[in-house]
Amino acid sequence: MDAIEAIRGRRSIRRFRNRPVSRDLIEEIIRDAASAPYSFVSLPQPWLFAVVQGRDRIARYGEIAKSYARDHRPQVKNYEWADRPDFSVFHGAPALLIICGREGNPEGRGECERAGQNVALSAHARGLGSCWVGSPNLWLGDPATRAELDIPNGFIPHVVCVLGYPAHRPDPPPPTSRASSGPGATARWSLDSPQGRRSGWASAPFAGRWESGSGHPPPPSACAICPLAGNSAPSRSS
Ligand SMILES: Cc1cc2nc3c(=O)[nH]c(=O)nc-3n(C[C@H](O)[C@H](O)[C@H](O)COP(=O)(O)O)c2cc1C
Repeated sequence: MDAIEAIRGRRSIRRFRNRPVSRDLIEEIIRDAASAPYSFVSLPQPWLFAVVQGRDRIARYGEIAKSYARDHRPQVKNYEWADRPDFSVFHGAPALLIICGREGNPEGRGECERAGQNVALSAHARGLGSCWVGSPNLWLGDPATRAELDIPNGFIPHVVCVLGYPAHRPDPPPPTSRASSGPGATARWSLDSPQGRRSGWASAPFAGRWESGSGHPPPPSACAICPLAGNSAPSRSS
């Protein structure tokens, strides 16, 4: 599987086969995680990857995390899941990866999130499924939890991913599912073309259509530069 297939085909997996994930495979995934780009202001050795294996043990932790959330949630809003008997924190996974960042690192959370994205892509490319789970975060903030999981002082858990062999295969998301709505999915192109500099806003993933309205520059007319924009291109020269 190439990188593009991994990026576009990855989905969250929430049902797993009853098959353990080998230590070697998890180590390869950690190596992939640690290949993420990093900032020069970050501290060296920014991560601690805490690995938990064993379906039963992980399920037990999930129940504890849920009960902890019920008892300690700051408000019920956003924590309704903790009241749902059918809600599974770790989805029956046989392996759990908790990515912890070094305390005092200005890039601590970012390092872990970039590593987490690599975990999801690497797992998918290697035939595993993963799901990034935020629901255990409250429980992970408890020092007793960190002691139980052997996470040393000086490290903060930022990202939790479950891993395992998938027992279902969700379809890839439609290409425009999130990208076609909201300002977060627009891209502003400023292009040098034979006609001069042009600029405009495009709706990702640029299916030959440029956004107009909502305060954005007028729709482009012909694009000599961006093949993804098809025949639509910026109309504004500047
Ligand atoms: C920060 C974060 C927290 C998440 N927390 C949970 C969670 O607690 N439980 C869960 O089942 N999925 C969780 N997810 C997975 C998202 O629900 C999922 O990525 C999203 O619905 C998009 O689906 P996809 O990953 O299949 O593309 C989380 C994802 C992120 C990035």
